[in-house]
Amino acid sequence: MVKICCIGAGYVGGPTMAVIALKCPEIEVAVVDIAAPRINAWNSDHLPIYEPGLEDVVKECRGRNLFFSTDVEKHVAEANIVFVSVNTPTKTQGLGAGKAADLTYWESAARMIADVSKSDKIVVEKSTVPVKTAEAIERILTHNRKGINFTILSNPEFLAEGTAIKDLFNPDRVLIGGRETPEGQKAIHALRDVYAHWVPLDRILCTNLWSAELSKLAANAFLAQRISSVNAMSALCEATGADVSQVSHSIGTDSRIGPKFLNASVGFGGSCFQKDILNLVYICECNGLPEVANYWKQVIKVNDYQKSRFVNRVVSSMFNTVSGKKIAVLGFAFKKDTGDTRETPAIDVCKGLLGDKAKLSIYDPQVSEEQILKDLAMKKFDWDHPAHLQPTSPTTSNKQVSVVWDAYEAIKDAHGVCIMTEWDEFKNLDYKKVFDNMQKPAFIFDGRNVVDVKKLRDIGFIVYSIGKPLDAWLKDMPAVA
Ligand code: UDX
Ligand code: UDX
Ligand code: ADP
Repeated sequence: MVKICCIGAGYVGGPTMAVIALKCPEIEVAVVDIAAPRINAWNSDHLPIYEPGLEDVVKECRGRNLFFSTDVEKHVAEANIVFVSVNTPTKTQGLGAGKAADLTYWESAARMIADVSKSDKIVVEKSTVPVKTAEAIERILTHNRKGINFTILSNPEFLAEGTAIKDLFNPDRVLIGGRETPEGQKAIHALRDVYAHWVPLDRILCTNLWSAELSKLAANAFLAQRISSVNAMSALCEATGADVSQVSHSIGTDSRIGPKFLNASVGFGGSCFQKDILNLVYICECNGLPEVANYWKQVIKVNDYQKSRFVNRVVSSMFNTVSGKKIAVLGFAFKKDTGDTRETPAIDVCKGLLGDKAKLSIYDPQVSEEQILKDLAMKKFDWDHPAHLQPTSPTTSNKQVSVVWDAYEAIKDAHGVCIMTEWDEFKNLDYKKVFDNMQKPAFIFDGRNVVDVKKLRDIGFIVYSIGKPLDAWLKDMPAVA
């Protein structure tokens, strides 16, 4: 019987292993983590992450062939295949700070595997790591255990949050990289057999180790680049009177470009894009490729520009000051259908508005008050480091920020509304009621292009929507980023 163990019960490890367990009933899957509260949550009715469809999958397999445990060593020792899906944050100190990946968690997982193993194992890199990490891991494994064979594979995960289960059920591709040796090829086949339970063979791509590792960084860099490209266009649209949705649609019909991932926004967020690009930039610099590094750096610069441009637009529209004004922030997660706030553009926008002394009333259907206050108190890159490095008592004054559980409450008496996440419910709010309950003039700043601009202008709002033609008010109050 094949036994799988996954180290790291996070956004990637949890859903991926749950789907493997569902699709491969004869394989025993154990998901282990050093964080006991996280494992307890996986074993409870309140899973630690919100992901559509996840609960049904977990309920069907948990206790059958899917187990969540803190007994890391036992499950690693018993497994034939060990996935490593631990966090790889951006380094905050030392060499490569602010760019390089911090592989502390990876290294400690590898050392532990070496320590407890008594039989041959396939060790699979699941978390995104810098190219050539596999080589370092191989060294740790082989230098610590004589007589046991470890074969390392790279099997990066491409699921997106909010659609994780859908993506896992029907992936565009599964990528498996391994050494071009007989052992490497044998390990690739063993892992391919797991995925072949539900993924057609022609969608399982097998490459060498380095190609697999780099493909993951490259895919995220290309996706982020598309968003920065369309966001750069959105600024030009506002300046010229073009409509970014029309431009996106037009260019997306070119089959060489394709229609997906061209939605202009207040900026991309999430745990991967920025982190992986910074990582790519660092690798390019280390390899003597400064031109390539600068090319990719620009993707992040445009993303930062888009967020500050949004804040400036809010402040300049409201007579150049938001001091003491109530601003409702609708949505805080980095995209809809997730409660994840890692690198969400809402953090930068809120901090920008707080810097101008606004009073914020924040509502997100899936994010807790505790999380929001923590995020607003946190420094850049701290989010993916252990809890003891994070602020325990938020420094943001509670008087300046309130978190509420209803969109209408957030909006009551507000001068302006900022839409930060494209939750479906924000499309269907009763905007007449919203207008009636706000201070006048009533402003809406739509960072996700979810509202019907014309309808809202007819109600009486002054509306700013990313990359859409400006109304006269906004034209008269230019925002300089
Ligand atoms: C991403 C990749 O899509 C996934 O393949 C990889 O495994 C992990 O990183 P994720 O970050 O979960 O997934 O979500 P994604 O849907 O890619 O969105 C990332 C950010 O880009 C979000 O903030 C989203 O709102 C933004 N975005 C996305 C846009 O602003 N416009 C778009 O057109 C698409
Ligand atoms: C381009 C656009 O494709 C076309 O829609 C527009 O109307 C005019 O500009 P063209 O310049 O004729 O057309 O040829 P294209 O096939 O786009 O190639 C442009 C250059 O890019 C060529 O030098 C080509 O060799 C190069 N290229 C193209 C690559 O290096 N790699 C590729 O994958 C594709
Ligand atoms: P991702 O989004 O990549 O899944 P997460 O931060 O959600 O990342 O999950 C990573 C998980 O890995 C965390 O729950 C963390 O506690 C766990 N982890 C980190 N290091 C170890 C380790 N050495 N052993 C077991 N679990 C670990």
